Parts: sequence; structure tokens; C-alpha cells
Amino acid sequence: MCGIVGYVGFREAYPILIKGLKRLEYRGYDSAGVALLDQESDLNIYKAKGKVADLELEASKHDINGNIGIAHTRWATHGEPNQVNAHPHTSESGNIALIHNGIIENYATIKAKLIKEGITFKSCTDTEVLVQLIEFLQKGHNLTLAEAVQQALKKVVGAYAIAVIEKGNPDTIVAARKSSPLVVGVGEGEFFVGSDASPIIEYTNKVIYLEDEEVAIISKKDGVRVVSLNNTEVRAEISELALSLDEIEKGGYPHFMLKEIFEQPKTLRNCMRGRVSKNHKNIVLSGVLDNIEKFKNARRIIIIACGTSWHAALIGEHLIENLCRVPVEVEYASEFRYRNPIIYKDDIVIALSQSGETADTLAALMLAKEAGAFIYGICNAVGSSIPRITDSGSYIHVGPEIGVASTKAFTGQVTVLTMLAMTLAKAKHSITQEDLTSLISELDTIPDKIQKILELNDQIADIAKIFTYAKNFIYLGRGYSYPVALEGALKLKEISYIHAEGYPAAEMKHGPIALIDQEMPIVVIATHNGMYEKLISNIQEIKSRHGKIIAIVSEGDETVKALADYCFEIPSTLECLDPVLSTIPLQLLSYHIAVCKGKDVDQPRNLAKSVTVE
Ligand code: F6R
Repeated sequence: MCGIVGYVGFREAYPILIKGLKRLEYRGYDSAGVALLDQESDLNIYKAKGKVADLELEASKHDINGNIGIAHTRWATHGEPNQVNAHPHTSESGNIALIHNGIIENYATIKAKLIKEGITFKSCTDTEVLVQLIEFLQKGHNLTLAEAVQQALKKVVGAYAIAVIEKGNPDTIVAARKSSPLVVGVGEGEFFVGSDASPIIEYTNKVIYLEDEEVAIISKKDGVRVVSLNNTEVRAEISELALSLDEIEKGGYPHFMLKEIFEQPKTLRNCMRGRVSKNHKNIVLSGVLDNIEKFKNARRIIIIACGTSWHAALIGEHLIENLCRVPVEVEYASEFRYRNPIIYKDDIVIALSQSGETADTLAALMLAKEAGAFIYGICNAVGSSIPRITDSGSYIHVGPEIGVASTKAFTGQVTVLTMLAMTLAKAKHSITQEDLTSLISELDTIPDKIQKILELNDQIADIAKIFTYAKNFIYLGRGYSYPVALEGALKLKEISYIHAEGYPAAEMKHGPIALIDQEMPIVVIATHNGMYEKLISNIQEIKSRHGKIIAIVSEGDETVKALADYCFEIPSTLECLDPVLSTIPLQLLSYHIAVCKGKDVDQPRNLAKSVTVE
């Protein structure tokens, strides 16, 4: 949901800002803009509808000098994506420029008041209200830029990560955050601001993560000062980033999504490193072990998540209930937070989120915290908001995920949930040591098995070509494979724009079967586990209605092969570990269909990677 970047220092700001925007483009890409202060302290602002490349084209016609600047890539919330609504927004005098990620909820009231004071608005955005308010307060009370920002932020309700510069002040960026991410990079005589560390890592690995309602006054001469909205000095802690540049580059792949699919053997090894004991007797998930009494005595586990993470949570429900015999509920964060849920003090509420920033998940978690539940985070982005408010948690350690469609984070989440279930099962004695050891041994083989599945890439690419005609797809699975069917369908629709539905296979005859004709592709996860025999009956039902069957089967399967039109064979594993394997061909199938259709797989329309608005 919008990416922001800022620079002040001794280098030319423009190339740093543009490169930073490209790295943040996954957050939103409907329009982009940049504001630069040049030597004469002129404030030059360039904006374009479309992607960062369109902004570059526009800016190339103008003066792009200056050692200080801010830039923004937008995912529209208020006001359509066009040049006027693109950020940076300026104050009435044109002296102050501001970029913003988030939503100002009370913008209408503030706007009405400012209009009464004679201020004219140029855009339809909530953001312009903030920059106009800052200047109005600055002029009215003779305040410095930082003081005016503090006063203005006290009056707004909502979420913000902002960076502000002003004419005549070529050394200073004022930045602040509340419920939207913001990182300040600290270099030698130069400073950076970013929605995440990706625009910063090339120049420095020292960063300050701002907390809610903190303001950073970033000066080329005086360094970084962090204060509260009431101007109380805050001791800003400098952290060292453990991120490397090659983690955020495509590394020879045509798309981040394909790179991230192919990284999965490595990312899952990283996810398990130090957690799976060498003799396969034990799993050490420290967040759970440190709080083992809480976990053992939990009345219930509630997992809250959105999108792909919600699908991973459904697999977690099967795992925890089967292995630990603890009741689990899986909730969409956006529904949970608004329906006055019953939360007990002895509940454990787990938030599952790749970004650690999803607004609904964050709000649902706060609700659980206020109700007194123990809150646990399973996230990927280190230092993001969810891990900072939870009582404990586990990172999935799969590295930055940049493709908007989630792939390696999904398999990382399922792997951490598997390890969580194993840890708790051992503590509760709901699993024998023998079964645990064979489960851990099998878990350890999963990265190699994924490597083998990736060899299907060319075969899947060929079959994908056949299905570019399709307007609809159905995905079917049962038990552990039902969430995989949901995930397969979501992957396809978000990047190829083909309508797709995931169903529990047996539900098909309660309605969706009416859709089946010779045009309809149906993807069936029919590995040799669980309800295999029953699935064969479901496949027969499709076959007799002439649907086109694409099946994911276990190596050596002959029965489904004889029925299906196309088959992808994957290595066998234990039923509870099947989802991590069977999801890989589905990721590749969606990827190749989208590529064949000429779609922008890394930046599908209307989407953004990190949903920091509700
Ligand atoms: C789909 C996808 C989204 C996210 C969802 C939650 O490929 O990426 O559905 O899973 O927006 O995001 P996180 O996990 O960051 O909370």
C-alpha cells in the first residue's frame, strides 16, 4: 500500500530515489512522484500516472538536481490514480511537500475546516489535507517544520508513514509513522527513509525502526533526532540489517515470482535451520518452548490472517488439531476484528502474516491483546509491526518476498506451523517419540523433494499454454489438500485474471458441478494420501461430465493418471506434509498461464504486496 523513500546527504538524490521506488514498487504501482530540493532551494516536483518507469520518462524532461528529496509509488485509496492525485502533495504556498502511506480517516472534517479558512485543494486525496494542515499550523503559530508536523499529527485519526521537506530547508527531512511501516537508514553524512529497508541496504545496514507516533527529524548536519508528538526525546536504537542485496534482486530470473518459487528448497532449509535437531528427535521452536506452559494450557488456538496466509492457517488448523488435539479456529482478520469475538484469557491468538504489516491482522491482534489472550506472531518481515507487538513469535526466515503473489512465504508459514504443532505435541505427549522422529525425518526431506518437483517446470509451462483460453478454473482437494486448492485458485486469479474457485472436492456435487462442461479445467490434488479413494470417485464425476482434469498425483500413481487429461507427479510424503509439496506445481501453473497471457506477474493490477489499509 504505497511505497515511500527519502534521501538527504551528499549524493544526487534523484537516482537513489528512483532506484528505491523500483524496489518498493511491489507496494503499489498506479502512479508515482518525486520532490527534489536543488542548490537554489527550488522545490521541483514531478509526477506521473502509471509505474515508476513513467515517472522517469516525465522527470527526464526536467531539472533533477538536488541532494535531498522524497518519492512515492502509490496504491490509490482516496481519489483515482492520476497525476494530480499522485504524491508528493504540496501545501497551498507550494513550500512544503509531503509523501504518505496510510489513510487519514478524519480528512473530511479537517478539509472542511481548512476550506473555511480559505485554503484551496488541488487533489481528491486524504494526504493533501495533512500537508495543508501542516502549513496552516506552521503559519498560524510560527512553528518549525518539525513542530508543525507534530501538531498536525496530533489532530489526525488514521494511519500514516510520512516524509516531509520544505523550501529553504535543504538539510532536513521530517518523517513520522503510525500503523504504517517506516525505516530510517543511517549512513556516513547521509540518511535515508523507506517503507522497508530495500531502498536503503545498498548504502547502509544501520537502521532505526520508528515506533508509532514517533517523529524523526533527519538532518544532514545534525543526524537523526527522534521525538514523540509531544516533543519528548526518544532514545532511537540503531539496528543492523541482516539483508543482502542479492535477496532483493531478480538474480537472472525473468520475474521475482519465478525466482521465489525456485528458491523454496533453500528458503525452507533456512526456515528449519537450528530448529530441527540432527538426530531428528526434537524440534526447537524457541518462541513456543519459552512459553510452553501457556501453549500446553491453552483452551483454544485462534489463527488470524488474510489471503494466502489465511490458507496457510487452514493447514495449521489440521496440523495442530491432529497432532496436539487442541481446538483451533481460523479467522479472517477483517471479519474477526469487527464481530465482537469471544476471546478468553487462556486463548492463544496467532497472527500469520508475511509482511507483518497487514492492517486488519494487526488490528485483530490488538483486539486479542486487549482481551488478555497470549498473542503470537508468525511473520517473515523482520522488525515489522506484528512481531513488535506480540508476546512471542517465530519468523519464517524465507527472505524478502517481492513478487506480489505470495509463494515462498506460504510454504514457510506452513513449515513453521508444522514445527509449532510438533513442538506442542511433544510437550503434551499427544504424539509418540517414534511418530515424532519419523515426522521430523520426513520434514527434513521436504526441501529435496521440492527440488525434484521444480524439474517439472518445463512440462508445466507446456501445459499452461493449452489453458490460456480458459475463463474459469476449479480447484479441488480434500482434507489437508483443500486449503491447497484454495491457494491454487487464488494464485491463478490474482496474476492471470482468470476466475478460479477452490472447493472441497466432495462439495462439488452441491452446486459447482453445474459449471462443468468440456471447456472447464479442473485441477485436482489427488496425492496418495488421506481420502485418495474418495477423490477418485469425485474425479469420475468430473470425467463423466467431460471436464478437463489436471491432476497432482503421487509418483507412480496409475489410477488417476488413467482418468486425468494431464498429470503432474510429485514425490510421496506423509499426509500432513503434502501441502508444501502439492502447492509447488500449482504455483508454477499459475505463473506460466499468466506469462503466456502476457500479464505482469510481479505486479498484477489493483494489488499491492503489503495491505496497510483496512
Ligand atoms: C496473495 C497474497 C495476499 C496476502 C495477504 C496477506 O498471493 O499475497 O493474499 O497473503 O494480503 O498478507 P500478509 O501475509 O503480509 O499479512
